[in-house]
Amino acid sequence: MVSGNSRNQDRLQQLKAFDESKAGVKGIVDGGITKIPPIFVRPQEDSAGDGPSSGQPTQTQFSIPVVDLADTAGRHDDVVARVRLAAETVGFFQVVNHGIPKRVLKEMLKAARDFHELPREVKAEYYRTGPGWTVKFGSNFDLYKSRFANWRDSLLCVMGPDPIDPQEFPVVCRDITMEYSEQVDKLGVTLFELLSEALGLKSEYLIGMDCAKGPVIVSHYYPPCPEPELTMGTSQHSDPSFLTILLQDHVGGLQVLCENQWIDVPPVAEALVVNIGDLLQLISNDKFISVNHRVLAKNEGPRISVGCFFRHFSPGNSLSRLYEPINELTSKENPPIYRQTTLNDFLVYYYKKGLNGVSALDYFKL
Ligand code: OGA
Ligand code: NI
Repeated sequence: MVSGNSRNQDRLQQLKAFDESKAGVKGIVDGGITKIPPIFVRPQEDSAGDGPSSGQPTQTQFSIPVVDLADTAGRHDDVVARVRLAAETVGFFQVVNHGIPKRVLKEMLKAARDFHELPREVKAEYYRTGPGWTVKFGSNFDLYKSRFANWRDSLLCVMGPDPIDPQEFPVVCRDITMEYSEQVDKLGVTLFELLSEALGLKSEYLIGMDCAKGPVIVSHYYPPCPEPELTMGTSQHSDPSFLTILLQDHVGGLQVLCENQWIDVPPVAEALVVNIGDLLQLISNDKFISVNHRVLAKNEGPRISVGCFFRHFSPGNSLSRLYEPINELTSKENPPIYRQTTLNDFLVYYYKKGLNGVSALDYFKL
């Protein structure tokens, strides 16, 4: 009889071999396979908890709103109202006419793909673990904690708040990452202004709380998968940020959990996906919600997406600012739900927990 223990030993060996290959999921696919390795297979029990498991589009009354940010003269209140409704109900919206040129979006997606398609030895130089890095290539940050590995590789670039040296970034994506970061930063400011107003606060309020400082840009690569129904591109999770702005290509697969139904976030040409992160849920005292989402694995691919996470955190140099529900948003009838935390404490807890579908916010509840 194969004991549970030796099965675990076996699995640990396979995880280590995958980790030590430093080649990510792309490395496995390049090796030529028709079946996915066991470490990627989603346990049966997880399928139930993850809702409908296949790529079937689900029909519901919900959809992800699209907000037009074009010159808002005369429409400002309407834009704020749309942002508020999305932030309170689905936690996700898409923006169009956001001001980032089409060329920049296209080049960013291409550079993200080009990085992941570099020879494995070149990428391996960026394969890092532990804190203190500004650039890091990896696959499954929670590899040894999660119940199964996801069909996805990622490249992280920390864009601040400490001054960065662009020379550290891989040359294939260096210039465009700098340019995209500058543009997405500006859009971040606009969105935080709209969100502040949507909370009934002065437009500078959230920026004043340093919500938009030093974003992290993460370029994801989802290789084509021979058995997509057995695994997941990204397990369900909510984001460790105040706000996330996501650029996705045309492939699709991103879904949001809305009243127990998975709904698609359809690719819209030149649009950007915006979602509320855990930290904005915390400081808004649950007025805005950070919603679980996931990415299905697909036969088709690769799928490329580039997430910009607004949070000012430099590993090893944690800032000590304390975050708690905003005073103006709490009252006797609506007391604070969360205790104070630093970003460092929040992020350390988030990463220790891994992507297991349980919100990190639970731990910070009073
Ligand atoms: C994330 C995420 C979605 C995607 O990076 O947190 O949810 O489409 N990404 O890659
Ligand atoms: Ni996410």
